[in-house]
Amino acid sequence: LSDKILALIPAAGSGTRYSKIKNKLFEKIKKIPVIIRSLITVSSVSLINEIIICAAPEIISHIENLIFEYKIKKVKKIVSGGKTRQESVFNGLLYIKGIGGCDFVVVHDGARPLVTTEILQKAIITAKDKGSCVIGMPVKDTIKKINPKTGMIIETPERNLLWNIQTPQVFRFKELLDAHELLQKETFTDDSALLENLGHSIFTGMGSYKNIKITSEEDLKIAEIFLD
Ligand code: CTP
Ligand code: MG
Repeated sequence: LSDKILALIPAAGSGTRYSKIKNKLFEKIKKIPVIIRSLITVSSVSLINEIIICAAPEIISHIENLIFEYKIKKVKKIVSGGKTRQESVFNGLLYIKGIGGCDFVVVHDGARPLVTTEILQKAIITAKDKGSCVIGMPVKDTIKKINPKTGMIIETPERNLLWNIQTPQVFRFKELLDAHELLQKETFTDDSALLENLGHSIFTGMGSYKNIKITSEEDLKIAEIFLD
């Protein structure tokens, strides 16, 4: 029997580093909105059965209209997001629990529109084989740990060991849900961090330096160039 695999798309952020007035998810890259680019690619992956989107209540109807306009398939539900990304993902997981759960959940940021079918497929296949897969790339810069009070360097972790982590991140649904339930009161910046905290071994896979997250204004221009 084949695994039931659902995608969970956090799209409930307010994009404060991008703009105070425009929602970055609706900005167009070569005529197609950021969130729609993410959804087109996620929905093209045959291993993914259905998509759940987490969005702020005030943008749900706009996303519904875009999904209709661009004929995006597989979207099962748009749930309300939370104050943090972690809360948004948790809301999505609770919805999935309510519909009977699934085998694997593919968490992919709505704000990461240049993900490819190949990256998503590789993440899912690795997770089916090893139990989890978090996509990332080796860092290019030297990374240092800085004391925020004094501005002085604390240490320089060996660059060879450091990766920038992206999405998709694929986990067993039950494991991720349990981690979110247990660690609700603590704050983590990605889903793998919750599982690491509980001592799970998490596998990684190479993504692409082009799989950028739209965070600040210049990222939209970079994304456009990557599509040339
Ligand atoms: N996200 C979410 N719910 C939140 C915060 C973020 O679903 N409460 C989503 C964003 O919509 C985005 C992804 O998580 O798709 C990654 O977050 P990030 O790039 O930080 O986006 P924002 O939080 O919207 O931007 P900022 O941090 O600049 O405010
Ligand atoms: Mg954020």
